[in-house]
Amino acid sequence: MLLETEAVTKVFGGRRGAAKLRAVDGVTLKAEPGKFVAIVGESGSGKSTLARMMLDLMRPTSGRVLFDGEPLDSLRGEAHRSFRRSVQAVLQDPSGALNPRKTVVRAIGEVIRLHAMARSAADVQRRVCDALEQVGMNPAEHFLDRYPHELSGGQRQRVLIARALVLEPQIIIADEAVSALDASVKAGVLRVMVDISQRLGIGYVFITHDLPVVRKVADEVCVMKDGAVVEHGPKNAIVHDPQHPYTRTLLAAAPELDDGGNSDSTGREAKKP
Ligand SMILES: Nc1ncnc2c1ncn2[C@@H]1O[C@H](COP(=O)(O)OP(=O)(O)OP(=O)(O)O)[C@@H](O)[C@H]1O
Ligand SMILES: [Mg+2]
Repeated sequence: MLLETEAVTKVFGGRRGAAKLRAVDGVTLKAEPGKFVAIVGESGSGKSTLARMMLDLMRPTSGRVLFDGEPLDSLRGEAHRSFRRSVQAVLQDPSGALNPRKTVVRAIGEVIRLHAMARSAADVQRRVCDALEQVGMNPAEHFLDRYPHELSGGQRQRVLIARALVLEPQIIIADEAVSALDASVKAGVLRVMVDISQRLGIGYVFITHDLPVVRKVADEVCVMKDGAVVEHGPKNAIVHDPQHPYTRTLLAAAPELDDGGNSDSTGREAKKP
């Protein structure tokens, strides 16, 4: 299973004489299960626009996005449903992503029902509990009837990840998924994301401003500037031997992740979600 972009371009504007903006400019990229692709680049470089096109939330001006070799706009029936399940989004949560009036079991359960992933109410609940446990919310029963405001920011983000996981995705597109979280909480949520990638073989397209995170977890790094990819390759090559001046500037500005050896910083939140 593969999600790839072929020279996708998105042009905004141009109406009523307004200047056109090539927000994404000829980007070719592959996402696949088990691979962690980090996308970095300054604000406005087109990262979220690229993510929206990969999620089929926005159509490219030119170029194509392919799922298993088929252009997204040609997917019908079961192929389209398969795309909808296999490629999930986890976006930043300034608490807008969860409906304040829905409990955790309802928010996750309705996704399961919508995609007909369970046969009975008991089955739905079992799957919700499984997903919560996958993201370190133990015991799951403890969280089922809570509303978003009764959860911490880190827990809300874990619920969003659990909601993506119930569909058994192969690729998760995460746009600044941990950026809003406090440093210690961020490390815990990040560890959950890396852990499910390794355990369940999920692939990531992981958009972040956070170079230390990239240094730590990415397999591949894709550097964007003004809509275009200026450098793309295995993490070690990019981190240790950046070719493009812009990548050098980015790396020079980013501190090493203070990891305390084997991640003391990641432990706290995960043990006590
Ligand atoms: N719907 C839209 N209409 C017009 N312009 C847009 C639209 N969406 C984004 N843009 C513009 O496209 C450019 C790229 O935006 P995008 O959100 O993809 O950047 P980004 O790399 O995600 O930035 P950030 O790191 O701040 O999230 C920006 O200049 C933005 O103003
Ligand atoms: Mg963005």
